[in-house]
Amino acid sequence: MSTDYKDENLISTTFDDPGEPDEDARLVDTGSLPGDEAGDNPLRPQTISDYIGQESVKENLKIYIEASKARKEPLDHVLLYGPPGLGKTTLAGIIAHEMGVGFRITSGPAIERPGDLAAILSALTPGDVLFIDECHRMSRAVEEILYPAMEDFAIDIVTGKGQGAMSYHLPLPKFTLVGATTRAGRISAPMRDRFGVLLRLELYTPEELALIIRRSAGILGVAIDHDGSLELASRSRGTPRIANRLLKRVRDFAQVESNGVITEDLARRALDRLGIDELGLDKIDRMLLDSIIRFFGGGPVGLETLAAATGEEAVTIEDVYEPYLMQIGFLTRTPRGRCVTRQAYLHLGLKPPAGAVGSQSILPEF
Ligand SMILES: Nc1ncnc2c1ncn2[C@@H]1O[C@H](COP(=O)(O)OP(=O)(O)OP(=O)(O)O)[C@@H](O)[C@H]1O
Ligand SMILES: [Mg+2]
Repeated sequence: MSTDYKDENLISTTFDDPGEPDEDARLVDTGSLPGDEAGDNPLRPQTISDYIGQESVKENLKIYIEASKARKEPLDHVLLYGPPGLGKTTLAGIIAHEMGVGFRITSGPAIERPGDLAAILSALTPGDVLFIDECHRMSRAVEEILYPAMEDFAIDIVTGKGQGAMSYHLPLPKFTLVGATTRAGRISAPMRDRFGVLLRLELYTPEELALIIRRSAGILGVAIDHDGSLELASRSRGTPRIANRLLKRVRDFAQVESNGVITEDLARRALDRLGIDELGLDKIDRMLLDSIIRFFGGGPVGLETLAAATGEEAVTIEDVYEPYLMQIGFLTRTPRGRCVTRQAYLHLGLKPPAGAVGSQSILPEF
């Protein structure tokens, strides 16, 4: 059995990124930064019991895994979707581990030609989990090889052109495809239909993140008390990747400026100095909300217009900033565009205008 995240042949773009963290990198970026997951990330849970939160996803997965093991069949293909840094890659590794099978990693953009995918598929051993990260970023030609592979465990390869063209039918070992995407809407319908199990990962609660932080602190040998972990958790935007990153940064403050223990007070002071406020918002979040308020009267404003006004890419706004701002009720999406809520005005120390929407509903309040 191997759950080896580094494979010589299959390139993962997300992991092998050792190096010093970039000083300018946004601390609360949900994406993976250099230094986050360098090498074999010891903070990444290996078993389903170590994987904190996502309770309904875990409950369902456990049943599917147990049933397919009892039938001695590979697990149905699984699509994991949700915002970055919530544990999709981690969960894919856990699925392979719990099934007791090999784990192969690649990503949509790394598979350039149909032949690349054919090579990956024919190198699988029976039962393997093949993890395709960013599976919404595969070309149509590559997807067309994947469909029969997922459905019938076989591919048809055509070589040559015109009269000399030859077609080979190549049976494959049975495998489980685990696809991950931050953009479920971008997955083509034929591909989505071929996944038997669709699992949506949700942002974590502060209590779940506090557990993740305490677990990580134990692994890293960092002393943190209960309130310190909750303080870090509540500023981690519902995202384990950010929670682990903030833990590492605040550890430095604890070592240099205190007795090494992360307390609530120390966490608060350190994060304030890092520009992350008590809800986990940094200056980009505040700039985004502020722009909607100043330039568009609080909204509604369309995504593209907002992107142009702030100089951020539309996809980044949609994938990285919005999920959390919506979760905490600072932003709502209406058919006419994004609106800043009353709560956001108050958080920024501004007086909400009479017509500002509330966080729960865009209907008028009575
Ligand atoms: N449920 C969890 N329990 C404990 N730690 C977790 C959990 N989920 C994620 N983590 C931690 O957060 C980090 C980021 O998770 P992961 O790389 O799996 O996210 P992802 O959803 O694949 O992100 P991306 O969309 O950017 O690929 C992991 O290295 C792991 O340490
Ligand atoms: Mg990932």
